[in-house]
Amino acid sequence: MLLPRRDVMRSALALAAAACAPTQAAPQRVRFVGYPFRLGVASGYPSATGFTLWTRLAPSPLEEGGGMGGTGVEVGWEVAEDEAFGVVVASGRIGAFVENAFSVHVDVTGLRPGRWYFYRFMAGDEVSPVGRSRTAEQPGQGIDRFRLAFGSCQHFEHGYFAAHRHLHDEDLDLMLFLGDYIYEATWGKDLVRAHVGDEATTLGDYRIRYGQVRTDADLQRLHGAVPWLMVWDDHEVDNDWAAAQSEHLDPRFLERRAVAFQAFFEHMPVPRAWFADASKLYGSVAFGDLVRLYMLDDRSYRDRQACPRPGQGGSTVVTEAACAERLDPKRTLLGSAQEAWLDQAFGASKQTWNVLGQQTLMTSGSRGVGGDRTFWTDGWDGYPAARGRLLESMRKKKLTNPLVLGGDIHAAVVADLRLDPEDPSSPVVAAELCGSSITSQGGTPEESAQAMREHPDVRYANGWQRGYTVVELTPEAAVARVRVVDEKRVDSGIETVSTWRVEAGRLGLTPG
Ligand SMILES: [Fe+2]
Repeated sequence: MLLPRRDVMRSALALAAAACAPTQAAPQRVRFVGYPFRLGVASGYPSATGFTLWTRLAPSPLEEGGGMGGTGVEVGWEVAEDEAFGVVVASGRIGAFVENAFSVHVDVTGLRPGRWYFYRFMAGDEVSPVGRSRTAEQPGQGIDRFRLAFGSCQHFEHGYFAAHRHLHDEDLDLMLFLGDYIYEATWGKDLVRAHVGDEATTLGDYRIRYGQVRTDADLQRLHGAVPWLMVWDDHEVDNDWAAAQSEHLDPRFLERRAVAFQAFFEHMPVPRAWFADASKLYGSVAFGDLVRLYMLDDRSYRDRQACPRPGQGGSTVVTEAACAERLDPKRTLLGSAQEAWLDQAFGASKQTWNVLGQQTLMTSGSRGVGGDRTFWTDGWDGYPAARGRLLESMRKKKLTNPLVLGGDIHAAVVADLRLDPEDPSSPVVAAELCGSSITSQGGTPEESAQAMREHPDVRYANGWQRGYTVVELTPEAAVARVRVVDEKRVDSGIETVSTWRVEAGRLGLTPG
């Protein structure tokens, strides 16, 4: 029987209310085995009226279960205009449940646009660290200056998070993380610290991995200081996964992917609806008329990498002649629904700057010359027709001042992005800024020099240093600074190694 719409709404609300209530009566006094807010606090996905707040109760984050007993705890939250919480403008109580690792996601609404707020959580007698977040400006509200930074690839064992300590001091409005927040496995040389446990495959493993990474004081402080937008890449699940397929064609991969996704959402300040869905990760956020950000998921909906090794999934390196499949015009990296959404969103944008936060290098990263050129099949080079459709959509929709941000390749790259990156006579349609890794090991200066030699559109390449890129946007220009650290030193300083500028209304990068 069909319920009248009013009744459907009522049952939906009743379900939502039930989902927010502790599954058993909360005890009179909640006691924890230790400080329950050891993973800190975070915020993300700002709108003009609010943002999502996050915490997870875990007095022992390196243990299975996080040191929590019972099935549910009530958690209070407050948002204030001032750090002393003299003017509290929003507050509430919400349940944290064992089935979600006692994580909490609160979508705060009703705030004023374009201003900073402070927030905290309470559980039992304990109070969390104070976090700081901002709402977005509404359309028509002027913004003189907007500072964002982006990072990716933070293998916990490869280095310390000195980059996050310096990001904290960058006076950011927004932090973007473009994938490989955790690594499921150990690899590389000269490791400075060790994962708890072996390769993550179970829900318990992934929770401990996120818990361990989030205990890092520098990372935690940055989460608490500024709202984040984030997407995953492969290592949040498994190296080189593609939609339903794993690198080694594991027949139970979808079970592994489901628990990896769940742990990701449990630890990230994503809106509650996304958390409940536990799979959708792409979307768009705007700040006034100045900037619109598009966060893309290039893992979940892609065709598998072209021309895999026999009996294997995952990526490889191929020549043009050896792999016709790579050039199949039907191949997709974003999936048809996301492509259609993005095309529509490009057409609707009214903002001066249009920033794509996505996982990997978009311009050509081929190596060698002529017919001997090789292409890596995991990145956009493995999906040239899909790349062409995205760049053509930007051009057709007359998207103003597109900036493409990426990560994944453990190298900072600054490039003029052409409609066909393999054709030097095709027009420049965007500026590309690919970020270095926060810690994960990269290549050599010789490899970077080769990339610049073989690709005149690559204006700067640095695969041998770790760090991040900061972008300052004004109505007149975007200025990007590539900043590097020594990730092997906890107390590393910071250095700007390259600065680039894009004038609004003009395509193409200029130095400094
Ligand atoms: Fe990575």
